[in-house]
Amino acid sequence: MSFHNLANDVHSILIDEEQLRQRVKELAEQITADYADQEDLLLICVLKGGYVFLSDLSRALARRHELDFMGISSYGKGTASSGAVQIIMDLKQPITGRNVLIVEDIIDSGQTLSYMRRNLLARGPASLRICTLLNKPERREVDVPVDYIGFDIPDEFVVGYGLDFGEIYRNLPYIAVLKPSVFAHLFE
Ligand code: IMP
Ligand code: MG
Repeated sequence: MSFHNLANDVHSILIDEEQLRQRVKELAEQITADYADQEDLLLICVLKGGYVFLSDLSRALARRHELDFMGISSYGKGTASSGAVQIIMDLKQPITGRNVLIVEDIIDSGQTLSYMRRNLLARGPASLRICTLLNKPERREVDVPVDYIGFDIPDEFVVGYGLDFGEIYRNLPYIAVLKPSVFAHLFE
């Protein structure tokens, strides 16, 4: 593991900066068109992983919208979900009657979004949709309706653009697969 240059730990780049920029722009255009006759739009960022995507998506949206944040925890330090989803920071406001769009980094098993969706629906929003940058279809355990997907990716653990391994690598500007040596200490 490298302290000074995270790129040394990268095995390969799965989605580069230009691909991310282009796809975020397309998603923003699609969202703008779909909500064209709605005055209200509230983006809810799922922390921590969603922060980079949210920041780029929000700035790519020319239309008015508000933001809120929700802290969710479902992973320990490893690369597989513990299954237990927990709200560690709730929204600052009620969402009753609002048009809510959840912005998430990745759907893996679907447990996190399934839980969030049920939790938010119980608060009575006017509408609730889900936008995820990445989707791992092979790993799905529970069905979740997803309205916007940036990229379908294979069943590999990825980091960067908000996604972490053990809280590190979120600041890599692309989506990458790490070298096997980085995971080695997990099995020591
Ligand atoms: P799920 O509940 O299994 O769908 O997992 C969703 C959460 O797990 C995401 O919000 C991520 O924080 C995390 N996660 C899933 N796959 C990956 C990955 O490949 N890299 C980093 N984090 C991941
Ligand atoms: Mg995470």
